[in-house]
Amino acid sequence: MKKVLITGANGQLGSDLVLSFSQSGYEVIIRTHDDLDIGNFEDVENQLNSIKPDVLINTAAFHNVDQCEAEKDKAILINAEAPAYMARICKELNIRFIHFSTDYVFDGYKNAPYTEADITAPLNVYGTTKMLGEQMIATENPDHLIIRISAIYGQYPCRAKNGLNFIQLMLKLAREKGEVKVVDDEIVSPTATKNIAMQLPALLDENINGIIHMTSEGSCSWHEFAREIFDYTNTPVTLHTASSDDFPAKTPRPKYSVLENTLLKSRGINKMMHWKDALHNYLDELNTK
Ligand SMILES: NC(=O)c1ccc[n+]([C@@H]2O[C@H](COP(=O)([O-])OP(=O)(O)OC[C@H]3O[C@@H](n4cnc5c(N)ncnc54)[C@H](OP(=O)(O)O)[C@@H]3O)[C@@H](O)[C@H]2O)c1
Repeated sequence: MKKVLITGANGQLGSDLVLSFSQSGYEVIIRTHDDLDIGNFEDVENQLNSIKPDVLINTAAFHNVDQCEAEKDKAILINAEAPAYMARICKELNIRFIHFSTDYVFDGYKNAPYTEADITAPLNVYGTTKMLGEQMIATENPDHLIIRISAIYGQYPCRAKNGLNFIQLMLKLAREKGEVKVVDDEIVSPTATKNIAMQLPALLDENINGIIHMTSEGSCSWHEFAREIFDYTNTPVTLHTASSDDFPAKTPRPKYSVLENTLLKSRGINKMMHWKDALHNYLDELNTK
């Protein structure tokens, strides 16, 4: 049985990956932040040496965007140097290294879906350190797989954002206030972690290296996403349109964050759903109807 070690295993994405790889016949070794701090290089090396997994999947990151601005050194360590070190040890021990990156490596000015071939141009420290991580991993270990994802939501909350995901927040605000104001000038492809987790084991059978995009098909504004949440759940609410200027952010973020799954499609293995179908599945499982 193949062994996969997953870091950040109790995170939003990590939790679904643990489930999916267990169901796909892998022996899954779970590492939470308490079990393994990826910034502790000695421990990373020791644990990889003693466990010797076939695959290492790193979901751990320092990804609170505002905190990254304030703690640049930590952002560089966790988002760039630590993944690069893991990639190096994986090369030495012949372990397949898989790492997650982000749409925030782009500035969003393209206003058309970004492909894997597009030039990166991050707007903030978080995006810059994730981009640096991509580059340093590639230098350390050519046999890597870096998966860029975007606007994810799952059954478990994002630990770095402390609490509810966008869908749960919308439903809570509608219930408690009866009206909600949501921006219509930020465009995303909301992506279910369950869909990523379903796609990944199948992808490992393919001989793919480098950077790959893995997001929902189609795109929408946050306002359209909220509209669909309320329509599908028959939630009574007044939904107002806002602009991002109404909610000024401390740290700049791309306004257009759509990634094209070019590589998955060219290989004929794209299992990523349309954002509406993935949302409906998620809401069905939440039993909100
Ligand atoms: N959330 C998004 O919308 C989004 C979008 C694009 C890309 N991504 C990328 O997707 C990946 C997973 O994100 P997520 O939403 O699942 O985040 P999450 O819920 O915050 O999970 C991240 C996990 O990493 C752990 N972690 C943090 N620092 C660590 C360290 N130094 N050593 C070991 N573990 C550490 C966290 O544990 P503690 O909480 O205990 O510290 C948590 O279990 C990240 O690489 C992120 O950059 C996320």
